Amino acid sequence: MNKGIDKAKADIEERMKSVKHKIMVMSGKGGVGKTTVAVNLAFALGMKGMGVGLLDADIHGPNVPKMLNLEGGKIQSKGEGIKPVSYSLGMREIRVMSMAFLLEKDAPVVWRGPLKMKAIQQFLSEVEWGDLDYLIIDLPPGTGDEPLSIAQLITNVNGSIIVTTPQDVALMDSRRSVNFSKVLKVPVIGIIENMSGMKCPHCGRDINIFGSGGGEKAAREMGVTFLGRIPIDPKIVKNSDSGTPFIIKNPDSESSRAFNEIVGKIRMIE
Ligand SMILES: Nc1ncnc2c1ncn2[C@@H]1O[C@H](COP(=O)(O)OP(=O)(O)OP(=O)(O)O)[C@@H](O)[C@H]1O
Ligand SMILES: [Mg+2]
Repeated sequence: MNKGIDKAKADIEERMKSVKHKIMVMSGKGGVGKTTVAVNLAFALGMKGMGVGLLDADIHGPNVPKMLNLEGGKIQSKGEGIKPVSYSLGMREIRVMSMAFLLEKDAPVVWRGPLKMKAIQQFLSEVEWGDLDYLIIDLPPGTGDEPLSIAQLITNVNGSIIVTTPQDVALMDSRRSVNFSKVLKVPVIGIIENMSGMKCPHCGRDINIFGSGGGEKAAREMGVTFLGRIPIDPKIVKNSDSGTPFIIKNPDSESSRAFNEIVGKIRMIE
Protein backbone atom coordinates (compact mmCIF):
# COMPACT_ATOMS: atom_id res chain seq x y z
CA MET A 1 0.00 0.00 0.00
CA ASN A 2 2.76 2.47 0.87
CA LYS A 3 4.26 3.85 -2.28
CA GLY A 4 7.14 5.46 -0.45
CA ILE A 5 7.05 9.01 0.78
CA ASP A 6 8.73 10.62 -2.24
CA LYS A 7 6.45 8.88 -4.69
CA ALA A 8 3.43 9.86 -2.58
CA LYS A 9 4.58 13.51 -2.52
CA ALA A 10 5.10 13.49 -6.29
CA ASP A 11 1.63 11.99 -6.82
CA ILE A 12 0.06 14.56 -4.50
CA GLU A 13 1.86 17.35 -6.35
CA GLU A 14 0.59 16.01 -9.66
CA ARG A 15 -3.01 15.87 -8.35
CA MET A 16 -2.73 19.44 -7.08
CA LYS A 17 -1.26 20.88 -10.29
CA SER A 18 -4.62 22.30 -11.27
CA VAL A 19 -4.85 24.26 -8.00
CA LYS A 20 -3.64 27.87 -8.32
CA HIS A 21 -3.23 28.78 -4.63
CA LYS A 22 -2.79 26.42 -1.70
CA ILE A 23 -3.21 27.97 1.72
CA MET A 24 -2.72 26.20 5.05
CA VAL A 25 -4.70 27.24 8.12
CA MET A 26 -2.88 26.35 11.31
CA SER A 27 -2.56 27.14 15.00
CA GLY A 28 -0.14 26.58 17.86
CA LYS A 29 -2.83 24.76 19.83
CA GLY A 30 -6.26 23.22 19.51
CA GLY A 31 -9.70 24.73 19.79
CA VAL A 32 -8.88 28.28 18.67
CA GLY A 33 -11.18 28.19 15.65
CA LYS A 34 -9.00 26.90 12.80
CA THR A 35 -11.76 24.88 11.20
CA THR A 36 -14.24 27.72 11.62
CA VAL A 37 -11.79 30.11 9.94
CA ALA A 38 -10.92 27.62 7.16
CA VAL A 39 -14.60 26.99 6.36
CA ASN A 40 -15.64 30.65 6.39
CA LEU A 41 -12.64 31.83 4.37
CA ALA A 42 -13.35 29.11 1.81
CA PHE A 43 -16.98 30.21 1.53
CA ALA A 44 -16.04 33.91 1.46
CA LEU A 45 -13.81 33.12 -1.54
CA GLY A 46 -16.52 30.98 -3.13
CA MET A 47 -19.08 33.78 -2.72
CA LYS A 48 -16.68 36.05 -4.64
CA GLY A 49 -16.85 33.64 -7.56
CA MET A 50 -13.60 31.78 -6.95
CA GLY A 51 -13.28 28.03 -7.51
CA VAL A 52 -12.55 26.69 -4.04
CA GLY A 53 -11.64 23.39 -2.42
CA LEU A 54 -11.48 22.67 1.28
CA LEU A 55 -9.16 19.95 2.51
CA ASP A 56 -9.73 18.68 6.02
CA ALA A 57 -6.31 17.28 6.86
CA ASP A 58 -7.19 16.56 10.49
CA ILE A 59 -7.26 12.80 10.99
CA HIS A 60 -8.31 12.63 14.62
CA GLY A 61 -10.91 15.35 14.62
CA PRO A 62 -12.08 15.75 11.02
CA ASN A 63 -14.76 18.36 11.72
CA VAL A 64 -15.28 19.96 8.32
CA PRO A 65 -18.07 17.57 7.16
CA LYS A 66 -19.96 18.15 10.42
CA MET A 67 -19.71 21.93 10.03
CA LEU A 68 -21.13 21.65 6.49
CA ASN A 69 -23.74 18.99 7.14
CA LEU A 70 -21.93 16.69 4.72
CA GLU A 71 -21.50 13.87 7.17
CA GLY A 72 -23.36 11.39 4.98
CA GLY A 73 -21.20 12.51 2.02
CA LYS A 74 -19.79 9.76 -0.12
CA ILE A 75 -16.72 10.14 -2.23
CA GLN A 76 -16.92 8.66 -5.69
CA SER A 77 -14.25 7.06 -7.78
CA LYS A 78 -13.43 9.02 -10.88
CA GLY A 79 -11.02 7.53 -13.38
CA GLU A 80 -8.03 6.57 -11.31
CA GLY A 81 -8.81 8.90 -8.46
CA ILE A 82 -11.54 9.90 -6.04
CA LYS A 83 -13.83 12.87 -6.43
CA PRO A 84 -14.41 15.36 -3.58
CA VAL A 85 -17.86 15.82 -2.08
CA SER A 86 -19.42 19.05 -3.28
CA TYR A 87 -21.32 21.70 -1.34
CA SER A 88 -23.49 23.58 -3.77
CA LEU A 89 -23.18 27.35 -3.71
CA GLY A 90 -25.59 28.60 -6.36
CA MET A 91 -23.76 28.52 -9.66
CA ARG A 92 -20.66 27.18 -7.97
CA GLU A 93 -19.61 24.46 -5.59
CA ILE A 94 -17.09 24.10 -2.81
CA ARG A 95 -15.19 20.82 -3.18
CA VAL A 96 -14.63 19.17 0.15
CA MET A 97 -12.37 16.30 1.10
CA SER A 98 -12.00 14.81 4.54
CA MET A 99 -10.80 11.58 6.10
CA ALA A 100 -14.21 11.59 7.79
CA PHE A 101 -15.72 10.47 4.47
CA LEU A 102 -13.69 7.29 4.71
CA LEU A 103 -14.41 6.53 8.34
CA GLU A 104 -17.44 5.28 10.20
CA LYS A 105 -19.19 8.13 11.99
CA ASP A 106 -17.97 8.55 15.58
CA ALA A 107 -15.35 5.84 15.10
CA PRO A 108 -12.21 6.85 16.98
CA VAL A 109 -9.14 6.90 14.80
CA VAL A 110 -6.75 4.61 16.62
CA TRP A 111 -4.28 3.80 13.88
CA ARG A 112 -0.73 3.67 14.96
CA GLY A 113 1.58 6.34 13.53
CA PRO A 114 2.98 4.64 10.42
CA LEU A 115 -0.35 3.21 9.33
CA LYS A 116 -2.01 6.56 9.79
CA MET A 117 0.58 8.33 7.64
CA LYS A 118 0.20 5.72 4.92
CA ALA A 119 -3.54 6.21 4.92
CA ILE A 120 -3.30 9.97 4.58
CA GLN A 121 -0.60 9.71 1.90
CA GLN A 122 -2.72 7.40 -0.17
CA PHE A 123 -5.83 9.49 0.38
CA LEU A 124 -4.16 12.77 -0.67
CA SER A 125 -2.51 11.22 -3.71
CA GLU A 126 -5.84 10.10 -5.11
CA VAL A 127 -8.04 13.18 -4.79
CA GLU A 128 -9.09 14.63 -8.16
CA TRP A 129 -9.42 18.31 -7.24
CA GLY A 130 -9.91 19.57 -10.78
CA ASP A 131 -9.33 23.26 -11.57
CA LEU A 132 -9.37 25.41 -8.45
CA ASP A 133 -8.39 28.99 -7.68
CA TYR A 134 -7.91 28.22 -4.00
CA LEU A 135 -7.43 25.14 -1.87
CA ILE A 136 -7.82 25.88 1.84
CA ILE A 137 -6.14 23.25 4.00
CA ASP A 138 -7.33 22.79 7.58
CA LEU A 139 -4.34 21.26 9.40
CA PRO A 140 -4.52 19.25 12.62
CA PRO A 141 -3.93 21.38 15.73
CA GLY A 142 -0.52 22.20 17.10
CA THR A 143 2.99 22.17 15.80
CA GLY A 144 4.04 18.63 16.68
CA ASP A 145 5.25 15.74 14.55
CA GLU A 146 1.88 14.77 13.18
CA PRO A 147 0.76 18.12 11.73
CA LEU A 148 4.31 18.54 10.43
CA SER A 149 4.35 15.15 8.68
CA ILE A 150 0.97 15.85 7.12
CA ALA A 151 1.90 19.38 6.03
CA GLN A 152 5.14 18.04 4.51
CA LEU A 153 3.16 15.84 2.15
CA ILE A 154 1.84 18.89 0.33
CA THR A 155 4.50 20.73 -1.61
CA ASN A 156 4.45 24.23 -3.08
CA VAL A 157 2.03 25.65 -0.53
CA ASN A 158 1.66 29.38 -1.23
CA GLY A 159 1.23 30.50 2.35
CA SER A 160 0.04 29.82 5.86
CA ILE A 161 -2.55 31.59 7.95
CA ILE A 162 -2.07 31.37 11.70
CA VAL A 163 -5.14 31.45 13.89
CA THR A 164 -4.78 32.52 17.48
CA THR A 165 -6.86 33.90 20.33
CA PRO A 166 -6.50 37.31 22.03
CA GLN A 167 -4.77 36.21 25.23
CA ASP A 168 -1.14 36.98 25.99
CA VAL A 169 -0.19 33.34 25.36
CA ALA A 170 -1.01 34.07 21.72
CA LEU A 171 2.55 35.28 21.31
CA MET A 172 4.02 31.97 22.41
CA ASP A 173 1.59 29.97 20.27
CA SER A 174 2.13 32.17 17.24
CA ARG A 175 5.90 31.94 17.56
CA ARG A 176 5.65 28.15 17.37
CA SER A 177 3.43 28.42 14.31
CA VAL A 178 5.74 30.87 12.55
CA ASN A 179 8.65 28.48 13.17
CA PHE A 180 6.56 25.58 11.90
CA SER A 181 5.97 27.49 8.67
CA LYS A 182 9.70 28.22 8.42
CA VAL A 183 10.55 24.52 8.71
CA LEU A 184 8.09 23.88 5.88
CA LYS A 185 9.51 26.81 3.88
CA VAL A 186 6.00 28.17 3.55
CA PRO A 187 5.65 31.98 3.77
CA VAL A 188 3.36 33.24 6.53
CA ILE A 189 0.48 35.22 5.01
CA GLY A 190 -0.51 36.50 8.42
CA ILE A 191 -2.14 36.04 11.81
CA ILE A 192 -5.87 36.12 12.54
CA GLU A 193 -7.10 36.85 16.05
CA ASN A 194 -10.24 34.79 16.54
CA MET A 195 -12.74 34.98 19.42
CA SER A 196 -11.77 38.61 19.65
CA GLY A 197 -14.31 40.27 21.93
CA MET A 198 -18.05 40.38 21.43
CA LYS A 199 -20.86 42.92 21.38
CA CYS A 200 -23.18 42.66 24.36
CA PRO A 201 -26.53 41.59 22.85
CA HIS A 202 -28.33 43.84 25.37
CA CYS A 203 -26.37 47.09 25.50
CA GLY A 204 -24.21 46.78 22.36
CA ARG A 205 -21.00 47.50 24.25
CA ASP A 206 -17.82 45.52 23.66
CA ILE A 207 -16.99 42.71 26.08
CA ASN A 208 -13.44 41.39 25.82
CA ILE A 209 -14.01 37.88 27.11
CA PHE A 210 -10.51 36.61 26.35
CA GLY A 211 -8.82 40.00 26.51
CA SER A 212 -7.78 41.65 23.27
CA GLY A 213 -4.86 42.49 21.08
CA GLY A 214 -2.74 39.36 21.66
CA GLY A 215 -2.84 38.38 17.99
CA GLU A 216 -1.92 41.84 16.77
CA LYS A 217 0.90 42.11 19.30
CA ALA A 218 2.18 38.69 18.27
CA ALA A 219 2.12 39.71 14.59
CA ARG A 220 4.06 42.88 15.36
CA GLU A 221 6.68 41.08 17.42
CA MET A 222 7.08 38.31 14.86
CA GLY A 223 7.23 40.78 11.98
CA VAL A 224 4.31 39.19 10.13
CA THR A 225 1.08 40.70 8.79
CA PHE A 226 -1.91 41.04 11.08
CA LEU A 227 -4.91 39.99 9.01
CA GLY A 228 -7.68 40.99 11.39
CA ARG A 229 -9.95 40.09 14.30
CA ILE A 230 -13.00 37.86 14.22
CA PRO A 231 -15.37 38.72 17.06
CA ILE A 232 -17.17 36.02 19.06
CA ASP A 233 -20.67 35.47 17.74
CA PRO A 234 -22.89 32.82 19.37
CA LYS A 235 -24.37 32.20 15.91
CA ILE A 236 -20.98 30.85 14.79
CA VAL A 237 -21.38 27.98 17.27
CA LYS A 238 -25.03 27.47 16.34
CA ASN A 239 -24.34 27.44 12.60
CA SER A 240 -21.31 25.14 12.92
CA ASP A 241 -23.35 22.70 14.97
CA SER A 242 -26.22 22.73 12.50
CA GLY A 243 -23.93 22.44 9.47
CA THR A 244 -24.51 25.75 7.67
CA PRO A 245 -21.55 28.02 7.02
CA PHE A 246 -21.96 31.10 9.24
CA ILE A 247 -20.94 33.53 6.51
CA ILE A 248 -23.72 32.32 4.21
CA LYS A 249 -26.38 32.52 6.90
CA ASN A 250 -25.22 35.87 8.33
CA PRO A 251 -23.46 37.75 5.53
CA ASP A 252 -23.96 41.16 7.16
CA SER A 253 -22.72 40.34 10.64
CA GLU A 254 -19.55 41.93 11.99
CA SER A 255 -17.73 38.57 11.98
CA SER A 256 -18.67 37.95 8.33
CA ARG A 257 -17.44 41.42 7.39
CA ALA A 258 -14.18 40.56 9.15
CA PHE A 259 -13.87 37.32 7.14
CA ASN A 260 -14.48 39.23 3.90
CA GLU A 261 -11.91 41.89 4.76
CA ILE A 262 -9.37 39.18 5.54
CA VAL A 263 -10.05 37.51 2.19
CA GLY A 264 -9.43 40.88 0.49
CA LYS A 265 -6.05 41.14 2.26
CA ILE A 266 -5.10 37.54 1.45
CA ARG A 267 -5.78 38.11 -2.23
CA MET A 268 -3.63 41.24 -2.19
CA ILE A 269 -0.69 39.77 -0.27
CA GLU A 270 -0.66 36.37 -1.86
N1 LIG B 1 -15.49 33.67 16.51
C1 LIG B 1 -16.17 32.70 17.11
N2 LIG B 1 -17.31 32.99 17.82
C2 LIG B 1 -18.01 32.01 18.44
N3 LIG B 1 -17.66 30.72 18.42
C3 LIG B 1 -16.55 30.37 17.75
C4 LIG B 1 -15.76 31.33 17.05
N4 LIG B 1 -14.73 30.67 16.46
C5 LIG B 1 -14.89 29.36 16.77
N5 LIG B 1 -15.97 29.17 17.54
C6 LIG B 1 -16.46 27.91 18.12
O1 LIG B 1 -15.41 27.35 18.90
C7 LIG B 1 -15.37 25.93 18.78
C8 LIG B 1 -13.99 25.50 18.28
O2 LIG B 1 -13.81 25.97 16.96
P1 LIG B 1 -13.07 25.09 15.85
O3 LIG B 1 -13.58 23.70 15.86
O4 LIG B 1 -13.13 25.86 14.58
O5 LIG B 1 -11.58 25.12 16.44
P2 LIG B 1 -10.30 24.31 15.93
O6 LIG B 1 -9.13 25.17 16.19
O7 LIG B 1 -10.51 23.84 14.54
O8 LIG B 1 -10.31 23.08 16.92
P3 LIG B 1 -9.42 21.74 16.79
O9 LIG B 1 -8.07 22.14 17.28
O10 LIG B 1 -10.11 20.78 17.70
O11 LIG B 1 -9.42 21.33 15.35
C9 LIG B 1 -16.51 25.56 17.83
O12 LIG B 1 -17.64 25.21 18.59
C10 LIG B 1 -16.79 26.85 17.06
O13 LIG B 1 -18.13 26.96 16.64
MG1 LIG C 1 -10.45 21.85 13.75
